[in-house]
Amino acid sequence: MNDKQLVALRAAQYVQNGMLVGLGTGSTANYFIEELARLTREQGLRCTTIASSAISAHKAQSLQLPIVALEHVASIDLYVDGADEITPDKTLLKGRGSDLVKEKLLAKAATQFIAVADASKLVSHIGQNFTIPIEVIPFAWQLAKKNLEALGGVGELRPNAAKDGFWITSHGSYVLDMKFDANIDANTLNAMLNNTPGVVEHGIFYQLADTILIAQDGVVSER
Ligand code: A5P
Repeated sequence: MNDKQLVALRAAQYVQNGMLVGLGTGSTANYFIEELARLTREQGLRCTTIASSAISAHKAQSLQLPIVALEHVASIDLYVDGADEITPDKTLLKGRGSDLVKEKLLAKAATQFIAVADASKLVSHIGQNFTIPIEVIPFAWQLAKKNLEALGGVGELRPNAAKDGFWITSHGSYVLDMKFDANIDANTLNAMLNNTPGVVEHGIFYQLADTILIAQDGVVSER
């Protein structure tokens, strides 16, 4: 069993009968979905799920997990998702994929948000290994980029290599992948991006994760 699988199995132990459980997106979240289906099948666990992406919804449905749509939900009990970077103060960077909007909605709506990852995701500051994904309304991308550059951002629209065009998210946004001065703290950066017109959502998950589960060399630790 690899570390991503191990940490996903640990997260599944937090699920109790009757819970509404948010499903993240990515390879670690996929292991969690598979384990939830196994517990349902083999141990009679009863829970309802809500997915952060079409791909996770499809996976949950194919494994016969009960699933509800986001528009029918005002709060959820537990959300489990992976991350691209995790700092010591539990700030996450997410958004390598196309589903930031629902991921952040579910993270915020959850009574408990558990981020699950292997140790390769641990960093000292946000932006250490990845650019920051910033979803922008397509017609606003030039103005948003200019405003973000005025804040010190450097980056470009994410290309869609397969289609000779720009990357389009699940909800029809473009993505600016940008770097900022490493000395800007996550709180400040989060506020700067929140306050930029044309930005739909961005990958900094500040003060949203309640619990971080990290697996390293077969051992899971909680923080
Ligand atoms: C999805 O948009 C991302 O935020 C993922 O949660 C993140 O990339 C983690 O992916 P893995 O679990 O595949 O590493």
